[in-house]
Amino acid sequence: MKTNKLFWDSYATNFDAIYGTKNSWVNKAINRLFRSTMKLRFEKTMQSIPDEKVSVIDIGCGPGHYCFSLAQSGQREVLGIDFSEKMIQLAADHALELGIEKRLKFEVLNFLEFGPEKKYDYSIMMGFIEYFEHPELIIKKALDITNRKVLISFPVAGGLLAFQRKLRYKRRCFLRLYSSEDIKRLMAEVNINSYTIEKIQRDFFVTLNLN
Ligand SMILES: C[S@@+](CC[C@H](N)C(=O)[O-])C[C@H]1O[C@@H](n2cnc3c(N)ncnc32)[C@H](O)[C@@H]1O
Repeated sequence: MKTNKLFWDSYATNFDAIYGTKNSWVNKAINRLFRSTMKLRFEKTMQSIPDEKVSVIDIGCGPGHYCFSLAQSGQREVLGIDFSEKMIQLAADHALELGIEKRLKFEVLNFLEFGPEKKYDYSIMMGFIEYFEHPELIIKKALDITNRKVLISFPVAGGLLAFQRKLRYKRRCFLRLYSSEDIKRLMAEVNINSYTIEKIQRDFFVTLNLN
């Protein structure tokens, strides 16, 4: 399975800029196209996880923005993992700037090699699954480490923007876009019956219910 760590290390600062922390003029146009879907999936994730003493793992957390919001109230136990040192460094720096570094943890880890000692109530994989050639393995692994819900975003196939995105990633990083039929097939393959698929602009927001 190909995952491109070097690509993510080199892309980390520009990816972080999508969240508005360092918005260079070069990225502004692209960011505008991505932002509204990213904002919606961010809000949807926050609504899906109760502000209680629950544990949450953010798989492929990138520069950590989901983790910050989840940890803000201090009730949830939050772990962000990512195999890019650069992404985790950005996440740790932001957590310090926000003064919430003690409320959450970040670790440099490859999810494919991750064997946690405990299960998490919620697992989130936002902007993650599309980079894997065998998404069924990723979902099975997430199911193994989760008690309640796995939340996953899938980028929608089709349309000019999707085509442009495929072109931009070509030769840099594996990227797969999905139809709702693809997602249903994938869920059947991993034996999940209880799930929802919601289309939010350029993403499908998928919730797997485990109990
Ligand atoms: C598009 S970014 C998404 C970041 C974050 N979830 C967000 O939506 O803001 C994808 C992230 O997945 C990470 N990643 C890709 N493959 C990984 C793997 N095998 N293990 C851990 N992280 C991985 C990359 O380093 C990158 O930070």
